[in-house]
Amino acid sequence: MSGETYFFRDHGQMDLLRLRLLPELLERRRDTKTLRLWSAGCASGEEAYSLAMLTDMVLPEHEGWNVFILGTDIDTSALAKARQGVYHKWSFRLVPPSLQQRYFRSNAHGWVLDERIRRMVTFDAVNLVGEKFPAGDLRDMDLILCRNVFIYFDADSVAAMANKLGAALREDGYLMTGHTELIGHHIRNLHARLFPEGVVYQREEAVRAAAPVDIRIAPPPAVAQPVPQTHQAAVAAPSADDLLAAAREFADRGAYDRAEQSCRQALGLSPLAADPYFLLAQLAQIRGDFDSARELLEKTLYLDPHNVAGYLELSSLCERADNLPRAQTLRRAALGILRALPGDAVVEQYETTAAEMVQWMT
Ligand SMILES: C[S@@+](CC[C@H](N)C(=O)[O-])C[C@H]1O[C@@H](n2cnc3c(N)ncnc32)[C@H](O)[C@@H]1O
Repeated sequence: MSGETYFFRDHGQMDLLRLRLLPELLERRRDTKTLRLWSAGCASGEEAYSLAMLTDMVLPEHEGWNVFILGTDIDTSALAKARQGVYHKWSFRLVPPSLQQRYFRSNAHGWVLDERIRRMVTFDAVNLVGEKFPAGDLRDMDLILCRNVFIYFDADSVAAMANKLGAALREDGYLMTGHTELIGHHIRNLHARLFPEGVVYQREEAVRAAAPVDIRIAPPPAVAQPVPQTHQAAVAAPSADDLLAAAREFADRGAYDRAEQSCRQALGLSPLAADPYFLLAQLAQIRGDFDSARELLEKTLYLDPHNVAGYLELSSLCERADNLPRAQTLRRAALGILRALPGDAVVEQYETTAAEMVQWMT
């Protein structure tokens, strides 16, 4: 079973948390000043720490608040890694560098999470199928993230797990899953609430009792306007490489429309280049357009059949679409390419070596 995960996985859902659900919960908990969040199936901790960083963004002054963030998984070696809070490029994907630099510092071992954020999260081993809850810490949650975990289970286990998670929510709490994971399942005590960025679930009682609340939307973190140096310095018309470099800078800074525009211009000059298609696929994922992302990754691999990141991204998308056999085949293909490379060969997209990637993936 793959523990594939990364920080701020799914930008739409992260925006929904930062701009709407967390501010709403904080408003509702203003009197008790307690907040209980749970990343269930947290793998190596990126999702639980993303919750801690988001909380830090919407509630910079934790003073006087009792914020409990729990990360659980069945895989104890993943939890050991989570507790260390040291990550590699692999875990960041399209995280804006400003955010990475705000919460991490780089040293010889990788990117080390800010101690203050690390201490906000408690990790524990929990088997979501076997464990009986609500009980102990696994109760009265304001928010549960259980994403990309249900995909491994049959329909009966999914329903049983989702019902238990629902029972572990506070009456007005939220359960967020992967986009389609509960669709078509009969979940007794949960009701879906639709937002443009995705679906979240609440207990039936909460939906019946719903009263309007005064939601204070936190302003988004300041994103500097991108000024790609490659453009400024260029006197002659930019080359396809210049345009791609500019596209990456735009994407890194969150200017996704301009990134897409530069990518398309790069393709205009160099239609058989694989890298612009790869970046376009990542941008499509950020928009939540997973069908286009899949098509763009297929094109990437057609043009560059040795593109390790292309195989891995497509594998994640197939996993997401419940196509587990294809996901595994693609992952095996990536592993085969990595194994055939010299151990110290650098895999550019992940700024790491082939040997290290083989080690993480096996
Ligand atoms: C693909 S990862 C998802 C990580 C993270 N939630 C995300 O979406 O980025 C799936 C995780 O579910 C965990 N898992 C699978 N079965 C589980 C179970 N019965 N109880 C708890 N965790 C489980 C795996 O160990 C793995 O770390």
